Amino acid sequence: MQPELVSTELLQQQLSEVQPDFNVSPGIPPACYADNGLLDLERRAAFLDGWIGLGRADRWPSAGDYAAMEIGGVPLIVVRNKPGELKAFANTCRHRGSQILTGTGNCKKIKCPFHWWTYDLDGRLKVYPRMENAIGFEADDYGLVEFAVETRYGFAFVSFADEPPSIDAWLDEFDDYHRAWRLDDWQTTRVREFDVDCNWKTFLEVFNEYYHLPMVHPDSINWQYPEPDAVDDVRGQYTTQFGETEGAAALMQDTQQYALPIAPGLEGRLAKGTRYTWIYPNISFALSQDSMWIYQAFPLAADRCHVIQTVCFPAASVALDDFEKHARHYYDRIDSALDEDLPFVEQQQVGLNSRFARPGRFGTLEPSVGKFAYWYAQQLLRELGPD
Ligand code: FES
Ligand SMILES: [Fe+2]
Repeated sequence: MQPELVSTELLQQQLSEVQPDFNVSPGIPPACYADNGLLDLERRAAFLDGWIGLGRADRWPSAGDYAAMEIGGVPLIVVRNKPGELKAFANTCRHRGSQILTGTGNCKKIKCPFHWWTYDLDGRLKVYPRMENAIGFEADDYGLVEFAVETRYGFAFVSFADEPPSIDAWLDEFDDYHRAWRLDDWQTTRVREFDVDCNWKTFLEVFNEYYHLPMVHPDSINWQYPEPDAVDDVRGQYTTQFGETEGAAALMQDTQQYALPIAPGLEGRLAKGTRYTWIYPNISFALSQDSMWIYQAFPLAADRCHVIQTVCFPAASVALDDFEKHARHYYDRIDSALDEDLPFVEQQQVGLNSRFARPGRFGTLEPSVGKFAYWYAQQLLRELGPD
């Protein structure tokens, strides 16, 4: 599909003007938020070559636990197999291509509803009715298409690439900035999914900037966020920024008495602050001294995205007898802040849909948005190729 809101020449020019220094850079071309004709370019550029965050690996604790997802236009199945490995398969039947699983749940096998071709949890075709006359048909040749999966720091990642880049090179010095939280020991306690009428990038951008806090959250969470540290200068495919916070960042002012213990191992400033990290392209989390809330946003259309929200706590907190009593107040705070953001990102989308939208600039308090913009522009430019 051709772009509708912008010529390819203007798009290329606007992308090439995005700079690594957010203080001098214009933003991502608005057409990238509004033009369905650019979705395919975006998929190829930002979703098909590198690593994509699937979420926390413990979302699928037991053999057979699965989720059907759609990532950058690819329907896939994430499932834990019998030996306990997390697997990802194309959610496309090898018979005549039907989507096989929907939603989330637990299954003993992966059974296509159409003609009942049935695969085991390693994607091998095991049942295939009435194929006895298909000459030369070998079930071993018709296993599900499998994608590479890696798990680091409790996060699972998938790659659609034939030869995926090294996940450790992708994350590079991530460990230096996140080691203190001992993320492998955190547990997922709640997952919610919903759709939002905005571009997937818009959804993640607002989560990663302090600029809007006094305007959008004046009476709820603004008080918790003094000016953060400068954004960290990282080499990996992510952006991260630490800031001290008042009290427990994931609790409202009037529920601070429900604060859970500080994560084991955290000391000094890290024990009273929050690290906001965005692993490109589309998983971002706030890692506080006692809790972590994660957002994944997936494009459905230029102006609509699917969001997965995950909340985690250190295992030591989850083990407390009255954990749920505390956690409820964390969920309330996280959901209320989100509810305050949503009307603004939907209104932003209305403005971005205009063919008269122009690239903007970044303020002091949105460095991670600027860093993502540069990464994104480089991916699209590489895909577009030389002039
Ligand atoms: S399309 Fe799946 S069994 Fe026919
Ligand atoms: Fe917000």
